[in-house]
Amino acid sequence: MNYDDILFLKGDEIVTLFKNRDLEILQAVKSAYQIHAQGDSSLPHSNFLRFPNNEKDRIIALPAYLGGEVNTAGIKWIASFPDNLSLGMERASATLILNSAQTGHPQAIMESSVISAKRTAASAAIAAQTIAAQDLRGKQTLTTLGLIGTGLINFETVRFLLATCPEIETLLIYDLSRERAEQFQHKCQQLSNIKSEGLEIVIVEDSNTIFQNASIISFATTATKPHIFDISTCRPGTIILHISLRDLSPEIILSADNIVDDVDHVCRAQTSIHLAEQKTGNRNFIRCTLGDILNGITPPRQDSNKITIFSPFGLGVLDLALGQLAYKLAAKHNQGTIIKSFLPVSWLEREECIVS
Ligand SMILES: NC(=O)c1ccc[n+]([C@@H]2O[C@H](COP(=O)([O-])OP(=O)(O)OC[C@H]3O[C@@H](n4cnc5c(N)ncnc54)[C@H](O)[C@@H]3O)[C@@H](O)[C@H]2O)c1
Repeated sequence: MNYDDILFLKGDEIVTLFKNRDLEILQAVKSAYQIHAQGDSSLPHSNFLRFPNNEKDRIIALPAYLGGEVNTAGIKWIASFPDNLSLGMERASATLILNSAQTGHPQAIMESSVISAKRTAASAAIAAQTIAAQDLRGKQTLTTLGLIGTGLINFETVRFLLATCPEIETLLIYDLSRERAEQFQHKCQQLSNIKSEGLEIVIVEDSNTIFQNASIISFATTATKPHIFDISTCRPGTIILHISLRDLSPEIILSADNIVDDVDHVCRAQTSIHLAEQKTGNRNFIRCTLGDILNGITPPRQDSNKITIFSPFGLGVLDLALGQLAYKLAAKHNQGTIIKSFLPVSWLEREECIVS
């Protein structure tokens, strides 16, 4: 490609490029957290475009630069329209632009809902693996995974958790919509067929059944306000992946050991962590970031009996890391469409005229 060309990648092309590459994706996400925690990144706050008198729909811009081997800048523009589900369409749609860190030139424009789902799920799976790694109770206890919300994000989370925590043998699933839970159960059956020992996949009637029985719980709902006020039935040491960020009451957050992806980012946009900050007037209840644990600066667990909550705001640096991986794979496997001369010729070389 020349400096003025640009690569277009469609969602299905990215699906193909990422097939059987979960370990590379996990490594790219882990390394992005580590580089970010070392300070070799630039991550302005994401910007929420909202609509008048509409609390549900939004489009978020996530600009970022990530150093290290990725050394790329860019921006993800991701829309969330929860009512799309009733129209038979996905809730989220997204575009990622990659820019050269040398010239600023756009190098690629790609569909990004696939990247976004995979980076989110990979980050949750890395968090669970990391928190559990030094768990004194041993890995035996991580056999039951509870899933609250049964959309794409929790499906990808199941896939990546099966890679990082292969001891999982039972999935307990709950959704407000029985139909969605059944679709999810059917889809997870495909994973069960691949896994040599199979999976037990059970739809439950309420989240409390999940609290009582699961050792890892992943929230990926579209709740905009806390709807869970009591987790006292949870088993000691339960790991909660609070991907959807707004399900748990601030009191629950304050009672747990809290790990986040980025303290400044997650204390925004009425997340449960933000509500807890508003309630206490400080951020002392956040123990550390996942990047600090991965860099060996902080231990993964405060107390093996305490409930640990991972709240990931979702960092643009993760999208860049996977966008760059997709870009490199596309070049290697000749995928995507190159638009030649996307940038115009220099203004000095253009033929000029004057309106007369
Ligand atoms: N933190 C991050 O980095 C990150 C990244 C991507 C997505 N997300 C969030 O993850 C969430 C899930 O995304 P998705 O694409 O899977 O959404 P989706 O719309 O496909 O699925 C969400 C499901 O949650 C269910 N649900 C809603 N409220 C519920 C409740 N109170 N209890 C149980 N189920 C409930 C819905 O019925 C639906 O089936 C969204 O809120 C999204 O914003 C977070």
